[in-house]
Amino acid sequence: MAALEKAAENLLAAVRREAAEVRSESQGKEFRDRWMARKNGILTQVNDLWLKAAPKDAKRDVGQRVNEVKTQVEQTIVDALENKQKAASASSKDAERLDITLPGIRRPLGAEHPIIKTMNEMVGVFRNLGYSVEEGPEIETDYYNFEALNFPPNHPARDTQDTLFIANQESKPLRDRLLLRTHTSPVQIRTMEKMKPPVRVVCPGKVHRNDAPDATHSPIFHQIEGLAVDTNITFSDLKGTLDHAMKEMFGSSVKTRFYPSFFPFTEPSADVQISCIFCGGRGYRDGGPCRNCKASGWIELLGCGMVDPNVYGFVDYDPKKVSGFAFGMGVERIAILKYGVDDIQLFFNGDVRFLEQFA
Ligand code: DAH
Repeated sequence: MAALEKAAENLLAAVRREAAEVRSESQGKEFRDRWMARKNGILTQVNDLWLKAAPKDAKRDVGQRVNEVKTQVEQTIVDALENKQKAASASSKDAERLDITLPGIRRPLGAEHPIIKTMNEMVGVFRNLGYSVEEGPEIETDYYNFEALNFPPNHPARDTQDTLFIANQESKPLRDRLLLRTHTSPVQIRTMEKMKPPVRVVCPGKVHRNDAPDATHSPIFHQIEGLAVDTNITFSDLKGTLDHAMKEMFGSSVKTRFYPSFFPFTEPSADVQISCIFCGGRGYRDGGPCRNCKASGWIELLGCGMVDPNVYGFVDYDPKKVSGFAFGMGVERIAILKYGVDDIQLFFNGDVRFLEQFA
């Protein structure tokens, strides 16, 4: 029995020593398996060896003592592993601790881009007049961008000087060839194909032209198209509508003037000019000629006209029963005037110092 006590003491000392040495989770697992694995962990071996070695009449006492020792060893191991875990989670909490005296992370609020802002304002003006909003694809067919808008087959606008065509379309008939829409007018056709009169829509969107960028040109820009078709729509409805829209956008003292022009899809057609918002329409300012209107007192802003009867033929409207007007304007041009910007490229360079001024 004395030998058994000695061996038990040694065993407990050994397990305590090893327990103190456990540093990591994997070490902890190894330690536990070494002692407690069912098949040949140290405890299983001790059980077998010590019991076997005991004389027959001492077996009961030895068995009891072995069980006590086993429980102690197991407790030592469980405690050691638990402590290890507590220490680990305490140190990860340390790392997570929040220093509330540190300055916060600033997440600056974004703002609407001036072009989108201008576009939404203009769309809002027409929404108030009862117009709804329609959109169409930026990749169009020749049919919607030109043919159905009454452009004759050899019209120079199709020229690659102006239009960006999708490559490898030559095997298709002209009307099916794909291109980047050069204006928002194709949305007029798409709208009339799916709606019967009365129609009152505005169509905002991005358009593309084969233009080199400079202070007044950009290969990508935006337009807002308008279309109203009903019975008895006249040129004076067009004038009244656009005069109102320009006053809403630029102020009630602005005057409008309609100047004869030409578009294949309108007849008659007009360019709309507004009285110069920089010199109040006088043509001179600060003792000299006004640079913005080239001393004319007028600034050209948009195109419009009465929908050409040929266009109705493409969408199955009866030109004897309905009439309507259409208009189209460049959003950048309006924004440039409204905000006094002198270079269209500023809208597209993405410089926040410029953009945040519109926030
Ligand atoms: N689509 C023309 C352009 O891009 C603008 C335009 C003019 C649209 C007259 C119209 C219109 O609807 O009636 O230059």
